[in-house]
Amino acid sequence: MPTPSVAVRVVLTLAGLSLASASSWGADAPAATASSVSETSFPAPTSAQLQAGAKVAQTCAACHGIDGNATSTEFPKLAGQHADYLVKQLHDYRIAKGAKHPARVNAIMNGMAATLTDAQIRDVALYYSRQTFKPGVAFADKKELKLGQAIWMAGIPDRAVPACVSCHGPGGAGMPSRYPRIGGQWQGYLEMELQMFRNDRRTNSPEMHDIASRMTDKQITAVAEYAAGLRAPSELSR
Ligand code: HEC
Ligand code: HEC
Repeated sequence: MPTPSVAVRVVLTLAGLSLASASSWGADAPAATASSVSETSFPAPTSAQLQAGAKVAQTCAACHGIDGNATSTEFPKLAGQHADYLVKQLHDYRIAKGAKHPARVNAIMNGMAATLTDAQIRDVALYYSRQTFKPGVAFADKKELKLGQAIWMAGIPDRAVPACVSCHGPGGAGMPSRYPRIGGQWQGYLEMELQMFRNDRRTNSPEMHDIASRMTDKQITAVAEYAAGLRAPSELSR
C-alpha cells in the first residue's frame, strides 16, 4: 500500500492527463457534445423538494453519509451524481410491475428502495445530486494505472471494448441524463459493479454488460483503479 503522499501525486498526474484530453472529448462523444445536452431532464428543484430529499437522506446516512460522501469504501458515494441516474437505480432496485426480480439485485438496497415512494426517490436524488462530491484517490502501481488509462482513453481494440472516456468523460464526470459519474468513486465499488455487469448479476444495463463481458479480471481491476483517481476538471483544486 503506497503512502498517502504517493497517492496524492498519482491523482495530480491523472488529473493532468484528463485535462489534456478534455478538448478532444467533445468530438469523440457518441451521441452529442456536452453543450447540446441539458443539465438534467428534471426542472430545477424547489426548496421544498430539496428539504424533503434531505429528510429521506437521513435514513441513508449511516451508509452513504449525510451529504452522500460515503466514508466507508463498502458504500458508493452518491454526492454530485446525476439525479436521473440515481432515480433510475432506485427504481431498478424495486420490483417492476409484472417482474419476478428487481433489475438490480442487492439485498440492502432492494429493501431500502421498496420503502420509498416515487416522489421520495425524486427528492432524494435531487438532494444528492446537489451535494458537493469529495473525490477519491488511486492506490495502484504505475503499471496498473498505465493499463487502466489505456483502457479508459482508447478501449481494448482487439476485444472490441469501447473507450470509457467516450461515455463517462475525460474526468469521469459522465453526462447528465445519459451516463453516470464514476470518476473518484471507490475503486472496490467500481470493480464490483463491473464484475456484476459481466456475470449478469446486475442486469439493468445491456450496454455495460456487453462491455464488461469482454474484459478480463486484470483489465477490470486496472480500469477501476484508474477511474477511482480521476477528477472532473472543476475539482482539481479540491
Ligand atoms: C445499510 C447500508 C445502506 C443504506 C442504509 C442505504 N444504502 Fe444505498 N447502497 C448500499 C450498498 C451496499 C450499495 C451498493 C449495492 C449494489 O452493488 O447494487 C448501495 C447503492 C445505492 C445506490 C446505487 C449507486 C450507484 O452508483 O449506482 C443508490 C442510488 C442508493 N444506494 C441510494 C440509497 C438511498 C436513497 C438510501 C436511503 C433511502 C440508501 N441508499 C440507503 C448500502 C446502503
Ligand atoms: C456507450 C456508453 C458507455 C461506455 C463506452 C462505457 N459505459 Fe459505463 N455506463 C454506461 C451507462 C449508460 C451506465 C449506467 C447503467 C445503468 O443505468 O445502470 C454505465 C455504468 C457504469 C458503471 C456503474 C456505475 C455505478 O455507479 O454503479 C461502471 C462502473 C462503468 N459504467 C464503468 C465503465 C468502464 C470502466 C468503461 C470502459 C471500459 C465504460 N463504463 C464504458 C455507458 C457506458
